[in-house]
Amino acid sequence: MDTQTHEIADGIFRFTTFVAEIGPDGFTFNQFLVRAEQPLLFHTGPRHMFPSISRAVGRVLPLESLRWIAFGHVESDECGSMNQWLAAAPRAQIAHGAVGVMVSLNDLADRPPRSLGDGETIDLGGKRVRHLDTPHVPHCWEARVLFEETTRTHLCGDLFTHTGNGPPLTRRDIVGPARAAEELFRASCYTPASGATIRRLATLEPRTLALMHGSSFEGNASTALLDLADAYDGWLEKA
Ligand SMILES: [Fe+2]
Ligand SMILES: [Fe+2]
Repeated sequence: MDTQTHEIADGIFRFTTFVAEIGPDGFTFNQFLVRAEQPLLFHTGPRHMFPSISRAVGRVLPLESLRWIAFGHVESDECGSMNQWLAAAPRAQIAHGAVGVMVSLNDLADRPPRSLGDGETIDLGGKRVRHLDTPHVPHCWEARVLFEETTRTHLCGDLFTHTGNGPPLTRRDIVGPARAAEELFRASCYTPASGATIRRLATLEPRTLALMHGSSFEGNASTALLDLADAYDGWLEKA
């Protein structure tokens, strides 16, 4: 298992581990590190990837300096190794939305998590992240994204999931590949609120989209989000 590291925006590092056996052309699992006075990791990776991912993160900064552990929702690829990270970083704390903390993380996390209200920010010192609740988008009640304001980067989790082992950062279309992956995996919830939830993310005018599965995107990210919202509306109608 080999985890690769790339800086996709100023001080935002992407760690990617490619698994060839998933899907028609393989699948990536990505974590993101926001380097700041209070460093934040977004996605922990599953437990069995912890040795490889933590080694890669440790080449960017000492693991024990991590202050925040965050992720999109409660599934093993998002947060399976959270307690391994908490053990490696004694000052680190999990930060998630109120629903996730109440329903799962108060119990699952080895140390008490911080509960964030919708729109609440954490000043990391040099970077600043805004928590946004996105219930059931793309899936799970406690789903959320984090928006890093200084680089205008959406840490958008499973949104735009696509297969393959593309470049760390692309300017090419990511909505087409995301549509194809959704047809394949059927991983998303389509509700009457889904389109509006995604359109709200576009109003922040992001510059970069940091995806958990697939290439990160740089370019007209608002348009990509609006196109994805339309795709959700279409899937809902079809369903
Ligand atoms: Fe997920
Ligand atoms: Fe995921």
